Amino acid sequence: MRKPIIAANWKMNKTIKESQLFMQKFLFDYTPISCDIVICPPVTALSSVGSIISGSSYSSSIKLGTQNCHWEEKGAYTGEVSLPMLKEFSVNSVIIGHSERRQYFSETNQTVNKKLKAIYSQNLRPIFCIGESLEQREAGNTFTVLSTQLNEGLDDISITSGEDIVIAYEPIWAIGTGNVATPKQIQAVHSFIRETLSVLFSPSIASAIRIQYGGSVKPSNIESIMQLKDVDGALVGGASLEPDDFMSLIQIACKAKEQIRS
Ligand code: PGA
Repeated sequence: MRKPIIAANWKMNKTIKESQLFMQKFLFDYTPISCDIVICPPVTALSSVGSIISGSSYSSSIKLGTQNCHWEEKGAYTGEVSLPMLKEFSVNSVIIGHSERRQYFSETNQTVNKKLKAIYSQNLRPIFCIGESLEQREAGNTFTVLSTQLNEGLDDISITSGEDIVIAYEPIWAIGTGNVATPKQIQAVHSFIRETLSVLFSPSIASAIRIQYGGSVKPSNIESIMQLKDVDGALVGGASLEPDDFMSLIQIACKAKEQIRS
């Protein structure tokens, strides 16, 4: 059974102080649930968020993630951060291929592939983001776009367990816009992603890989999303910035999955 996984993508938000305040409030209210949580702060707050998590009693279910990495271990890449550097903060997961990185920082399926390979060489876990634009959806190209992103991104990568990767399906038109994809659209895409993973790896690995939905997820809409068969969690931007919102989103998400399985 796939354990739900909810990840907070804070993007370029929160100073160290603000991150600490979030974590203190979040952990104060946290009650253990059957759900993995990943907090991805900006790089500047990795150290403080990481030490708060490791000093808490919940470090087995709450993990530290980061939002990007370079594929080389070191070198002349001004402004970049490498995986060995990120590992110094005990980072566990790395968001790769987010549409904002693709759109504003020229990330391609080929650079995503290099980053994924580097992540595996460092024994870390990627949260690999894919998603189509509104134009691509309206032109009827959603599945072609997603298939290319998966095939090129995962080219020459072998995965031996469903635990090795998390896929995040984030339609670009739903990110930060308040426009959530409908349950029907989400289930159709998640099922397509699982079929593609089944061909790329194996049916048993594909059935164990967790696929998150992302794009304007909030406490008010997460329940119906989590009830979908092939949705195993969420990648959350805006609604992960306030501890109360994020906590209630996690609780609703996990409860919805438990209910559907019981
Ligand atoms: P959003 O962002 O929840 O604010 O739409 C999601 C994401 O970009 O990961």
